[in-house]
Amino acid sequence: MTEGIITVAYIAASILFILALGGLSHPESSRRGNLYGMTGMTIAILATVLGAQVTGYATILVCMGLGGAIGMVLAKRVEMTQMPELVAILHSFVGLAAVLVGYASYLDPEAAFQGVERTIHEIEIFVGVLIGAVTFTGSVVAFGKLRGIVTSKPLLLPGRHWLNLGLLLLSVWLGVEFVGEVGEHGLGMMALVIMTILALAFGVHMVMAIGGADMPVVVSMLNSYSGWAAAATGFMLANDLLIVTGALVGSSGAILSYIMCRAMNRRFLAVIAGGFGTSGGQGAATGEEQGEVVATSPEETAELLKAAREVIIVPGYGMAVAQAQHIINEITRKLRQQGVNVRFGIHPVAGRMPGHMNVLLAEAKVPYDIVFEMDELNEDFPSTDVVLVIGANDIVNPAAQENPDSPIAGMPVLEVWKAKTVIVMKRSMATGYAGVENPLFFKENTRMLFGDAKKSAEAILASL
Ligand code: TAP
Repeated sequence: MTEGIITVAYIAASILFILALGGLSHPESSRRGNLYGMTGMTIAILATVLGAQVTGYATILVCMGLGGAIGMVLAKRVEMTQMPELVAILHSFVGLAAVLVGYASYLDPEAAFQGVERTIHEIEIFVGVLIGAVTFTGSVVAFGKLRGIVTSKPLLLPGRHWLNLGLLLLSVWLGVEFVGEVGEHGLGMMALVIMTILALAFGVHMVMAIGGADMPVVVSMLNSYSGWAAAATGFMLANDLLIVTGALVGSSGAILSYIMCRAMNRRFLAVIAGGFGTSGGQGAATGEEQGEVVATSPEETAELLKAAREVIIVPGYGMAVAQAQHIINEITRKLRQQGVNVRFGIHPVAGRMPGHMNVLLAEAKVPYDIVFEMDELNEDFPSTDVVLVIGANDIVNPAAQENPDSPIAGMPVLEVWKAKTVIVMKRSMATGYAGVENPLFFKENTRMLFGDAKKSAEAILASL
């Protein structure tokens, strides 16, 4: 392929990626958005493989075959509830790739950069390896936290801010040494290796210090980092498409982090600095009784639903675990046929990844026009007859508003307790992701429907 054709292919792929992002911003256009993305990626891969930079086709084909096969098996096996973990570990690969490309381009015997160009190239390498290493270990720890292998409690080392600042200053100094070193690779290499070790440690420390409740921000933040790591790789390899794609991922991840922070009423810098989302403090799970809990049955729930005019369903992580979305859709259809106005209320951080609930509801073919964001229906709860909370906990916790000492204090929540009756479907009195006790369960107008959400929903449907 000639240079000209490759440039055109790269521009076409960039435009398709931008169209893909645009499409993904709305459920109805998301399928088209995905198609644009897939087409763009196919063009990008073809143009890169057939371009001048690639010579050993056999190696490339074997690697792509192996990687593609592993990816396909993993993607087929992974459950919806494990998606965030998968995404986290995929981010780590981007980080690792940036580190490896950085080292390879530093050691490349054919690279003949001189003067200013050489300095620029070395800065690219240093920054690329730095971002890549932080992304790599940060994502591995995030994977561990989401999977439950690593504790979700924040690790608070004494003087951790000073430690971070020290690491940053040390990295800057090493960078100056690295770029300033002329001639032999020995000293420069040493600076690069030491910085890599520091950055790897920084990645671990940064994510370890962030508490469970703030994990949504971490996932989107690492998403952003992986974009910048890819962009840095693009600079090192002088590949324009990688720079554009990396920047798109980096900036959309940053915007998502901002949205997540707003949804949880957190300041971005405060989350990064860590220590939030502690499961200590007042209002954290203590196992103490807070009052009477009233249990109910699927039959009674069905009666209440039938008699209602306004119903709001609030799904959470437990609906994903139970895979109850299809039965819930059936219940919704039945109730709507009987003239009940059923709507869904979606909290921005419900579940374990951005848009988790929207994906599940779309999969079950719940009509888009009855699915609302938290802000769109939070004022409607007082005029609602029945709220059905399905496997949600933190996102409907009144302590966020009522208890300033609660670890989730200030986080906007769905004000379900203002409805006439609230039915909470969950298996036990266990806490949610943030490990915080939920006073909702003890309110006078709350009924607990204990059991697996899918089984309970099936019983409700049978009664209807
Ligand atoms: P959670 O607060 O995690 O509560 C989920 C509840 O579902 C649990 O209390 C659990 O209670 C119940 N449950 C689990 N399996 C169930 C089953 N099979 N049937 C019925 N109930 C079941 O979920 P949420 O309200 O959706 O809030 C999300 C939380 O995750 C927030 O704290 C958020 O910050 C965090 N988080 C979100 C994200 C993103 S990006 N969305 C990422 C990471 C973390 P039982 O055990 O008693 O059944």
